[in-house]
Amino acid sequence: MVDSKVPLLTPYKMGRFNLSHRYQYTPGIWTKEQVEAWKPIVDAVHAKGGIFFCQIWHVGCVSNSAERAIVLNSILVTLGTQCFWCYDCNRLQQQYIMLVIHHEITHCHRRVPERETEKASEKMVDSKVPLLTPYKMGKFNLSHRVVLAPLTRQRSYNNVPQPHAIIYYSQRTTQGGFLITEATGVSDTAQGYPDTPGIWTKEQVEAWKPIVDAVHAKGGIFFCQIWHVGRVSNSGFQPNGQVPVSSTDQPLTPQIHANGIDEDQFTPPRRLRTDEISEVVKDFKIAARNAIEAGFDGVEIHGAHGYLIDQFMKDQVNDRTDKYGGSLENRCRFALEVVEAVVNEVGTDRVGFRLSPFANYMESGDSNPKALGLYMVESLNKYGILYCHMIEPRMKKLGEKCETPDSLQPMKDAFKGTFMAAGGYNREEGNKALVNKHADLVAYGRWFLANPDLPRRFELNAPLNKYNRDTFYISDPIVGYVDYPFLESST
Ligand SMILES: Cc1cc2nc3c(=O)[nH]c(=O)nc-3n(C[C@H](O)[C@H](O)[C@H](O)COP(=O)(O)O)c2cc1C
Repeated sequence: MVDSKVPLLTPYKMGRFNLSHRYQYTPGIWTKEQVEAWKPIVDAVHAKGGIFFCQIWHVGCVSNSAERAIVLNSILVTLGTQCFWCYDCNRLQQQYIMLVIHHEITHCHRRVPERETEKASEKMVDSKVPLLTPYKMGKFNLSHRVVLAPLTRQRSYNNVPQPHAIIYYSQRTTQGGFLITEATGVSDTAQGYPDTPGIWTKEQVEAWKPIVDAVHAKGGIFFCQIWHVGRVSNSGFQPNGQVPVSSTDQPLTPQIHANGIDEDQFTPPRRLRTDEISEVVKDFKIAARNAIEAGFDGVEIHGAHGYLIDQFMKDQVNDRTDKYGGSLENRCRFALEVVEAVVNEVGTDRVGFRLSPFANYMESGDSNPKALGLYMVESLNKYGILYCHMIEPRMKKLGEKCETPDSLQPMKDAFKGTFMAAGGYNREEGNKALVNKHADLVAYGRWFLANPDLPRRFELNAPLNKYNRDTFYISDPIVGYVDYPFLESST
């Protein structure tokens, strides 16, 4: 070889290695099996005196002239908690070490060059579509009113947010768009489902940071929904297998799981003692502080859907005889103590509250939901919180619309801050709600889940991807999570 005249076959000294030829491959090196499979190959190369480096590879985005980036179904094993794949292929992080190529290529995603994002937001401002008009919420300048509703996705393994959430949330971010995270546990007693995220440990706070950073890098405004499930749990989710806590010791009957087949079983709860309640309030306060430390712009207190705060507010569940039970004022005391503690911790302009007075999810109904809703908004006015987020009365049952004479209008009219409505909205109804001053903002759950570019689709009145309920809560980091397609022409 040394004597050869073929240039490719001439020797070259690179550092301490003498190289003689090149090599190309496409296998993986993230599993034990792959590592073991490489060993005899490496041994064989070494046996013949070769020097063998492994090229560790991220294909990530592959641009073509239409600036289309192909996103592989992939996960990177990271060093530390740094992000593994950035939404913008120019900003790939350097820290990671391996790539898992998980399935076939299934999803095309065209990245948004900075200047296009600006143009798009200018266009939104000019748009006549009410949902696409700007709105000032406290100190936040929203470029449109299509909010990402909180959506539990159960992909935060061991209650720690995962790098794939970087893609998920940044896919749904627009310049000046408002996003709310999935419900996020405030303590180790707050959990009731597998793999929902938390924000009570240092590890969780650190894991949220790159997710928040990715949303901010695209100009989004990001609130963390803080949550305690109360009796919607079983001892398998509780520390040391203890029983869940609640406003009551009344058990919850088994509920059909979201997949429509399995049954969720609940351990009969333990009624919190009066002197223990301040500890739970403190958990919310610390969670809010942690959320700000993670970089969130604020927090939304989850007071809806039959979870702990709702269990205190609703007379169907709350059967207490202390100062937290009985009268409406007493039943709302816990909720308002949480609000006060969180407001004192992070400031009024960073706090929202979600309520579902008319719903009876998880056997948590109230005999006078209108009075409850009005009492709460009037009380929230005293704290001057940023926004009130309310579920439409038509969503009495989870995921189902029903006919009802009830309306959120009295609550909207009574609330002095920003009023956000959610539940069963499409484009037309969202626009109508804004025009009729029924809401200032509209949160979209299932449509946003299935359409990462929902504001853009509303702007163009483009068709929507259908959502697939079967993948709402599966633990796959890709499927049903970051593989819903964007519009061909969008982003
Ligand atoms: C998959 C899924 C997860 C949800 N997770 C949460 C949650 O974590 N917190 C919450 O307050 N509401 C949650 N909801 C309710 C949604 O935020 C929203 O209120 C509901 O889907 C109705 O709005 P939509 O008709 O736009 O989907 C969830 C709904 C779905 C479908």
